[in-house]
Amino acid sequence: MARRAALVLTAALLASSALTACSTEGPGSGPAAATKARSGGPITMGFAQVGAESGWRTANTKSVQEAAKKAGITLKFSDAQQKQENQIKAIRTFIQQKVDVIAFSPVVESGWDTVLKEAKDAGIPVILTDRAVDTQDASLYKTFLGSDFVKEGKSAGEWLTGAYANQPGPVNIVELQGTTGSAPANDRKAGFADAIRSDGKFKIVASQTGDFTRAKGKEVMQAFLKSQKDIDVLYAHNDDMALGAIQAIEESGKKPGTDIKVISVDGIKDAFVAMTQGKINVVVECNPMLGGQLMELAKKVVAGETVPKRVETEEGVFPQDKAAAALPSRTY
Ligand code: AHR
Repeated sequence: MARRAALVLTAALLASSALTACSTEGPGSGPAAATKARSGGPITMGFAQVGAESGWRTANTKSVQEAAKKAGITLKFSDAQQKQENQIKAIRTFIQQKVDVIAFSPVVESGWDTVLKEAKDAGIPVILTDRAVDTQDASLYKTFLGSDFVKEGKSAGEWLTGAYANQPGPVNIVELQGTTGSAPANDRKAGFADAIRSDGKFKIVASQTGDFTRAKGKEVMQAFLKSQKDIDVLYAHNDDMALGAIQAIEESGKKPGTDIKVISVDGIKDAFVAMTQGKINVVVECNPMLGGQLMELAKKVVAGETVPKRVETEEGVFPQDKAAAALPSRTY
């Protein structure tokens, strides 16, 4: 009996060590009490996705859809095409349809309180996936599942300061930001700026949004190449923008990865291929495979169980010399 209890405890500890929990909220404790706990029967989830702007997003959508099927959860899926108003409409429709749980990846950080309050008043729990919201009222959602984007930006900046440790400045950086107002754009910018701040030789000479897409990444990089005489480094907030920018760099007659160092975030297969070709110098991983954890959290939340308020995914940093070995095992 004692051995069985120890095994159960070990399994529980192992399961929880895969997640980074920051605080907890359970049934009957403050805001969580407003949600109607439900037990038994199939669960219906309304999922309001950002769009299909990147390889990362496509992998994320696939992960959510496959995991829902595997978990026996009925998924009502909506694609907001990168527009907040579409996501708000989708969430209102899910409320009318009386789904059991709403999950969404907010296009931008601010402006969610009203619709989240509507969900709360209807007793429908909300799970934030991938991107967080900026709100003073944490009771408006049950939990957040995703990455630490500030840490990702910091890792990108730390790689840069390490790579240029023994070289004189200035080091001129151009930055391709993600969607304006989105959590990954805000946080990756802040984390990176923080990491390079202490050494004045690093200068961000131009910074503009490329909306997380390949086409925009290329277009904005073309403009950077025209307006900036000396560019040493490109920091792109995602792989798709980096890949678009690489085309622009090549078309301008320069060598990406050599003439202009390229730093990117996500870790899609195409970026790993570009690293093996010497065109990207480092990729900071951002994990889109959130489906399995999301369905587990949804089941718990619907049953009124205690869940961590924040669940973060584990991620790595892949410099160019690690790319070839890592490429075969990339899953997205
Ligand atoms: O929110 C995650 C970000 O959104 C990914 O880094 C980017 O590729 C996507 O569009």
